[in-house]
Amino acid sequence: MVLPTAQSGARLNTRTTTRPVADVPAEASAAFPALPVRLDGIARRFGAAHTVLSGVDLDVAPGEIVAVLGPSGCGKSTLLRQVSGLDAPTSGRVTIDGTPVVGADPRTAVAFQEPRLLPWRTLTRNVALGLPPGTAKDAGRARVAQLLDLVGLAASAGLRPRQVSGGMAQRASLARALARNPGVLLLDEPFGALDALTRLRMQDLLLDVHAAQPATILLVTHDVEEALYLADRVVLLRTLSDAAGRVDGGADGAVHGGVGDRVSSIARIVDVPGDRPRDRADRDLADLRAELLEGLGVPTHHSRH
Ligand SMILES: Nc1ncnc2c1ncn2[C@@H]1O[C@H](COP(=O)(O)OP(=O)(O)O)[C@@H](O)[C@H]1O
Ligand SMILES: [Mg+2]
Repeated sequence: MVLPTAQSGARLNTRTTTRPVADVPAEASAAFPALPVRLDGIARRFGAAHTVLSGVDLDVAPGEIVAVLGPSGCGKSTLLRQVSGLDAPTSGRVTIDGTPVVGADPRTAVAFQEPRLLPWRTLTRNVALGLPPGTAKDAGRARVAQLLDLVGLAASAGLRPRQVSGGMAQRASLARALARNPGVLLLDEPFGALDALTRLRMQDLLLDVHAAQPATILLVTHDVEEALYLADRVVLLRTLSDAAGRVDGGADGAVHGGVGDRVSSIARIVDVPGDRPRDRADRDLADLRAELLEGLGVPTHHSRH
């Protein structure tokens, strides 16, 4: 399969924020500038028979936001884990800024669908857990305060996770990830557990955060609207075979795993038009939305016209 890896769609975020965002001083955000990420022929097999990913090639530009979209179980989290170094590919390699990822990588930070905060610690002390080892006490304290401000939690800094809403806990989780000053921010369905309205607010917050601290972002989501609202490009993952080994797609028609396997690869990479912040009701985006839903196997009335 020929996979598009061109950078044609790479655009840096030019969004001007609509509400005040804390100043992140140069020395705090200088730890890692936004870094390029490259995936080269990534495959991940579990045991002899279960191939989850195969032939994944992707180039992500510094500061770019790339959404990874695909149905549940297709290997999105597995793909992100290859970039984080929490897991290693069976073949192929991931490089960040030209250097291979080997093991948990200090240049990356990850946030998940569950905030994973320590319940007995205040939000301040949870965010402080993300500081790079060896951070001086005063600098760390200042940095945590800035981040809490950035995610709108300054007034809740002394609360514990059970005292705050799901959206607030998720904001603390994002701040903890940012405390590392990552060059690459990996987000695995970060808003997946939130109610619809909170999710929309969190998407805007993420854009503000990205404008203030423009790390390269890989965002896993199964929400087409979210992908189109946030990303420069959308990577659509597709499973090439089902449990019966039946081929149902793939440019070369090949099944890359064993019979009965479900192997995913990149089906399409879509450039999202328009600068952020985007109009959620944009007509071009509606067409793309229909296309991506089709790609996910969800037929839409819109696309039948
Ligand atoms: N450590 C593991 N051992 C065996 N199989 C795994 C492991 N991690 C993930 N998988 C399998 O990989 C497939 C994709 O999982 P995942 O990446 O979590 O999908 P997604 O995030 O798209 O929902 C699933 O079939 C899952 O069972
Ligand atoms: Mg997942």
